[in-house]
This record gives sequence, C-alpha cells and structure tokens, in this order.
Amino acid sequence: MATPGGAEPMIAPSILSADFARLGEEAEAVANADWLHIDMMDAHFVPNLTIGLPVVQSLKKATDLPLDCHLMIDDPDRWAVGYAEAGARNVTFHAEAARDVVQTARSIRAAGARAGLALKPATSFDDYQDVLAEFDMLLVMTVEPGFGGQEFMADMMPKVVQARRFLRDNEMQLWIQVDGGVAADTIEECARAGADMFVAGSAVYGAHDPAKAVTALRERAEAAIPTSNRGTH
Ligand code: DX5
Ligand code: ZN
Repeated sequence: MATPGGAEPMIAPSILSADFARLGEEAEAVANADWLHIDMMDAHFVPNLTIGLPVVQSLKKATDLPLDCHLMIDDPDRWAVGYAEAGARNVTFHAEAARDVVQTARSIRAAGARAGLALKPATSFDDYQDVLAEFDMLLVMTVEPGFGGQEFMADMMPKVVQARRFLRDNEMQLWIQVDGGVAADTIEECARAGADMFVAGSAVYGAHDPAKAVTALRERAEAAIPTSNRGTH
C-alpha cells in the first residue's frame, strides 16, 4: 500500500468529469491510476451540488481502486467519519469548514482511513502547519473549489513550495496533493514545486483514452519531480 513520502508521483482521476450514469465503467477506464478522486459538494460550502455517501458505497463495490474522498461540504466534523467507515482510503476535508480539524482527522484515522486537510486558495499554510502531524495529506487547491474544468492557479505554487519545505525541515511525511486545472501543461510545475499527488478531472476524462492520459501525466510528473525530493518526502 502506498505510503506518504513514497518517491513516486501518484495520479488520482476525478470522477467529477466522468459520466455519472456509468460510474463503474468510468472507474474501470482508469484502472491504471493510483487513487480515484471523488468530489462531494453540498451547495453550501461550495455553490455546486454533486454526490454523497451512497455513491461512494456503491463505487467501493464496483472498483478496486482506492477511493480518495474530497469533502467540499459544511460540517465535515459530522460527516467525514462515514466516508472512512464506507472504506475510503483517504478522506480529505476543508480546513475552512471544520470546527475542530484535529478531532475530525483523528476520527477519520480511527475509522481506518488516511486523513487529508484541504486549503482553499485564500487560506494560508501558516495557519495550519501546527496540526499537520494529525494528517497524511495536505491538499493545496489550485482552483476555487466547486467546479471542474477551471483554469489552473499558478500563484498557488509558492504555497506548495512552502509546504514541501516545512515537511522536509520537520521530517514529516505527508503527501502534497494539488487539485484543479492539473493537466499536461501544468503538472510539471506542480511537481517541481513539491506536489506528489495529482488530481486531474477534465485532463483524464476529457481525453480520448483516459488510461493513456493517466500514464502520460504520471510520466510528466515523474520527470519533473526534483531528485532532491525523492525519498525525502
Ligand atoms: C474542483 C474539484 C476537482 C475537479 C478538478 O473543486 O475539487 O477535483 O474535479 O477538475 P479539473 O481537473 O477539471 O480542474
Ligand atoms: Zn477535488
């Protein structure tokens, strides 16, 4: 099982860009991916509305891919643990939405999943560095959460650099995930900045061959990850 700090970049296709009427097949189409990214939106924390726990439970039965649940919902303190109990490999919730990030992370981990902390573009890394020991992953959003197919925010790269430096200086092993606008023309700068877990929606499901797109993204990221990061994060 992959652990945070592994040297290899990981690709997590986002089913937000898939055909929701054929989710099982769409998961199969990216069987060569590392994780399958699932976006929960509640029309409160973000303007958009997507799916919830029943769909995750069904997907768990339909695919062997580890499920990476990204909760863009209010009150994750209440709901996050249910996704862990449903068998998600990882449950990420937003720092801005949680009342008690530490307690929520602990309940996710206690239920057997990895815990991820997501930061919207305006949320600074400094405010959360002290709680990172409770997490397996930091998600630096590279768009405003809510919709697929938005333009990549290159101005989030300094946050990735800062997070990678902090983890290295403190000998902490977390994945750094980027989500939003990650594609063939942006994944390399994410990797160079220090990201090692890449969510891609439209770049994978918008491609003629989603599995080929996964492989191509992984190769680009692999070539761009600085040698100095390998094995040290
Ligand atoms: C956006 C979601 C993303 C979305 C990314 O709020 O969190 O996971 O699916 O889509 P792309 O890769 O198309 O920007
Ligand atoms: Zn997402």
